[in-house]
Amino acid sequence: MPLTRKAYRAALLHSIGDPAEVGIEASYEYFEDGLLVIENGLISAVGHAADLLPSLPADTEVVHYQDALITPGLIDTHIHLPQTGMVGAYGEQLLDWLNTYTFPCESQFADKAHAEHVADIFIKELLRNGTTTALVFASVHPKSVDAFFEAAQKLDLRMIAGKVMMDRNAPDYLTDTAQTSYADSKALIERWHGKGRLHYAVTPRFAPTSTPEQLTLAGQLLGEYPDLYLQTHISENTQEVEWVKELFPERSGYLDVYDHYKLLGERSVFAHGVHLCDDECPRLAQTGAAVAFCPTSNLFLGSGLFNLPMAEKHKLNVGLGTDVGGGTSFSLLQTLNEAYKVMQLQGVRLSPFKSLYLATLGGARALRLEDRIGTLQPGTDADFLVLDYNATPLLSYRLKQSKDIAETLFVLMTLGDDRVVLQTYAAGRLVHQR
Ligand code: GUN
Ligand code: ZN
Repeated sequence: MPLTRKAYRAALLHSIGDPAEVGIEASYEYFEDGLLVIENGLISAVGHAADLLPSLPADTEVVHYQDALITPGLIDTHIHLPQTGMVGAYGEQLLDWLNTYTFPCESQFADKAHAEHVADIFIKELLRNGTTTALVFASVHPKSVDAFFEAAQKLDLRMIAGKVMMDRNAPDYLTDTAQTSYADSKALIERWHGKGRLHYAVTPRFAPTSTPEQLTLAGQLLGEYPDLYLQTHISENTQEVEWVKELFPERSGYLDVYDHYKLLGERSVFAHGVHLCDDECPRLAQTGAAVAFCPTSNLFLGSGLFNLPMAEKHKLNVGLGTDVGGGTSFSLLQTLNEAYKVMQLQGVRLSPFKSLYLATLGGARALRLEDRIGTLQPGTDADFLVLDYNATPLLSYRLKQSKDIAETLFVLMTLGDDRVVLQTYAAGRLVHQR
């Protein structure tokens, strides 16, 4: 393959560490007049334009942006493909919301053509919001996973997804069995896991909708293939937590159910964790598992306020999730806007650099992909964004008052959404242009 090289000149910003571990100043790199060099879909250099331009081969095309910021692509560690058509469903909290809105909406994915249509909308929506990697719940139907991966593969995106496993406490039209869920998941793993930039996640919906037999087989699958992911929900809503105690009285708590069935590990991502108990954070941290913080969903469904300082205290891996359609936006910028408010309500300040970390490197670490995505480090995949400081009249005027990159970043997260994302690149290719 001939070498393709292209360079992008603009302000550059990326996270290089967790502010909770290294302090805010050491957590990021910012180049006011920076250059990002891409070769064959990978980042080959990042730095000050003045340092890098002289050594660039003379025939290299350099794209120069004014009033723009280049960042890594954003990482959504929790979202549901088949809930795209039901964002903003009125009036219910988790368990009634699932029965009233979610299950009927997900049943439509029995039809492959419908799944393909929504997968196309869903992936376009991710990219126009600057999300280049997501950990995705498909529906219970294996074809919903095929539809999603086929669409992701066409654009060479780095994506993770799995078929929901659900064999009780859901309508008959939407349940599988322990055996079919195992066989169907296995076939999907064989077809998709490790193909290009695609990865498979074993996906029991949550403890209440799986029998012990199904959870046993989910754990068995994880042991059968290397580097598989596990995604599910945990301790999102107080009624849900009580229900799990009734369904699994022999276990010491919600996390212990998943622990017992061998579902905890370095590639396990648990959505929400709003009502985790004192002993559950250390156990999650010990096993290397991660939690997806989903602020728009936790507010919209009235679930509660995620305790980020507690997670930090236990050195727990935390990523950010939109949780569409419990969440109300595909935009991780808007998700950070709400994350800030969730912390305000708990008397905690969420630094814009911690927010940047959560949406990029923190998400990559939660997914054990920090050597591939989440930063602008040379050698990693060229998944990056060009953000437009003049996206709206108000943003443009507001940013002219900004004194430094911290303020600019915070305002981008407060006022910004899909309109800010001028371009999205995946593996060096332009996959969205506003
Ligand atoms: N718990 C079990 N299923 C779901 C779901 O689809 N969305 C959310 N937010 N929580 C869940
Ligand atoms: Zn969810």
